Amino acid sequence: MELYNKLLQNNKAWVEKMISSDPEYFSKLAGGQKPPVLWIGCADSRVPANEIIGAPPGEVFVHRNIANMVVNTDMNMLSVLDYAVNVLDVQHVIVCGHYGCGGVRAAMSNQQFGLIDNWIRHIKDVYRFHQKELDAIPDKGKKEARFIELNIIEQVYNLGKTSIIQNSWNKSKSPFIHGWVYDIRNGLINDLEVTVNENNGLLKIYQFDALN
Ligand code: CO
Repeated sequence: MELYNKLLQNNKAWVEKMISSDPEYFSKLAGGQKPPVLWIGCADSRVPANEIIGAPPGEVFVHRNIANMVVNTDMNMLSVLDYAVNVLDVQHVIVCGHYGCGGVRAAMSNQQFGLIDNWIRHIKDVYRFHQKELDAIPDKGKKEARFIELNIIEQVYNLGKTSIIQNSWNKSKSPFIHGWVYDIRNGLINDLEVTVNENNGLLKIYQFDALN
């Protein structure tokens, strides 16, 4: 209970700190949000979206799940994406994974972890798409790091395959979708340089015609 009570105390202290630097801080935020960025990240406690990019409240719309996956039957992710793109009009969508990701590590193993194995299956599929490259990396740590990067890149393309993103691209070449990997060992983000804002980089079968 001590830790639990501390959380509520911390909240009061934070409110006081914010008000002391700007008495209107909360009334301004209460007026509405217009974040320019949607963040799709891992649920890992060591990768807090706002904190690692110095973004204050109001700047980042956030969706997190195990291993920063974009699963096209995930109603939660699709709802966040549709709202972010079509209502908030975000200019950037960032898929941010991280080295040492437990979800990817689990996907690399043959161990069972329970219900989550069915989520992890989507990550195993990424391994299958890149089996040749990954099988050729003998070092386990390097293989895991590359698997993590490839998983992020696949999720960037999974976003691009959604009708939500393609309709927005067809209208305005926006948003830009980026793939980032965060290094929990030194706090630095590495841009994987897979930024896309049009569907012509996708395999033809995934490209939607513009809506009339
Ligand atoms: Co993770």
